[in-house]
Amino acid sequence: MTLFLTNTHKNIQKAALILKNGGLIAFGTETVYGLGADATNSNSVQKIYAVKGRPNFNPLIIHFAHLDHVFQYVKKNDLAYKLGKKFWPGPLTLILNQQENSIISSIATAHLSTIAVRIPQNVTAQQLINYSQKPIAAPSANISGRISPVTAHHVYQELNDKIDGILDCGSCEVGVESTILDISQDQPKILRPGGISLEDLTPICGSLNFEESIENKIIAPGQLSSHYAPSLSVRLNCNYLEPDEALLAFGKTSLQAPLTINLSKTANLNEAAHNLFAYLRLLDTEGKKLGLKKIAVMPIPNYGIGHAICDRLQRAAAPRSSSKQ
Ligand code: TXA
Ligand code: MG
Repeated sequence: MTLFLTNTHKNIQKAALILKNGGLIAFGTETVYGLGADATNSNSVQKIYAVKGRPNFNPLIIHFAHLDHVFQYVKKNDLAYKLGKKFWPGPLTLILNQQENSIISSIATAHLSTIAVRIPQNVTAQQLINYSQKPIAAPSANISGRISPVTAHHVYQELNDKIDGILDCGSCEVGVESTILDISQDQPKILRPGGISLEDLTPICGSLNFEESIENKIIAPGQLSSHYAPSLSVRLNCNYLEPDEALLAFGKTSLQAPLTINLSKTANLNEAAHNLFAYLRLLDTEGKKLGLKKIAVMPIPNYGIGHAICDRLQRAAAPRSSSKQ
């Protein structure tokens, strides 16, 4: 049975003890809910891959509560320190070179010499990590390839009975995953657009290159793998509707489907990011009940956090034949 824990002090301590003893706890961050395990315990980390059905070559992000804890595990890097000071706690993940003899499980890092690290902003998440006294490995708390959860209830629907507990940390303010920035080599590279925008990073990092993330490079060379996928198919940049479509609207519109929901009536990208995954889930379940076959999505501007929204929508719309992650 999976414990459902409200975020009382007692429950946070209980959840931390479960992590310490090798169990799996889902918890909320400002981006999405994560499925946490003690990153130094290979048995626990292995359970994350099993529960998610995640390929073991796809490494996990390691979460910390303090900047100085991060630097106990990674090689000295001045840019990381600068970025950490500015953006942590917050939705930025840095890829850095690991220290030799690191006690982080090599299963969590998929045997790479680099490591993905971040400090989440959600206060309950910080307390959980603090009390556990461990670095916490945590991918998004969904079955691989599905939509990331942004409430404790979403996690419950998907992982009930498969994990030890769910700590309710409220809804996720940002709503899309962290930006992944690889600064393990000379030229910084963005591996995933996310909660911190490129416009925020370039003043500190200079020009940024883009590179496909590990999962995409290996699973679907040369194409986007289907990811964040609802069961209805997704059609992007729509300015008209077909009869069997639900509508995910953005800004003012006169389009009206049998099922319509607006990411942000005022065309506010932060509001749209916050609503994105919850609304995709809603259209999927309610649309199916109404016999609809597709979700039509209106155009979303591709700047700021809109970049992350467009990235997730493109993956949700990608062909399903390659959907193995
Ligand atoms: O906002 C987030 O980042 C959420 C919350 C829970 O923190 N976590 C999350 O984890 O989105 P996940 O597992 O769904 O995505 C982690 C991504 C994967 O694409 C993985 O390939 C990449 O991070 N990654 C992890 N370690 C890496 C490494 N050493 N080098 C390159 N990419 C890495
Ligand atoms: Mg994920």
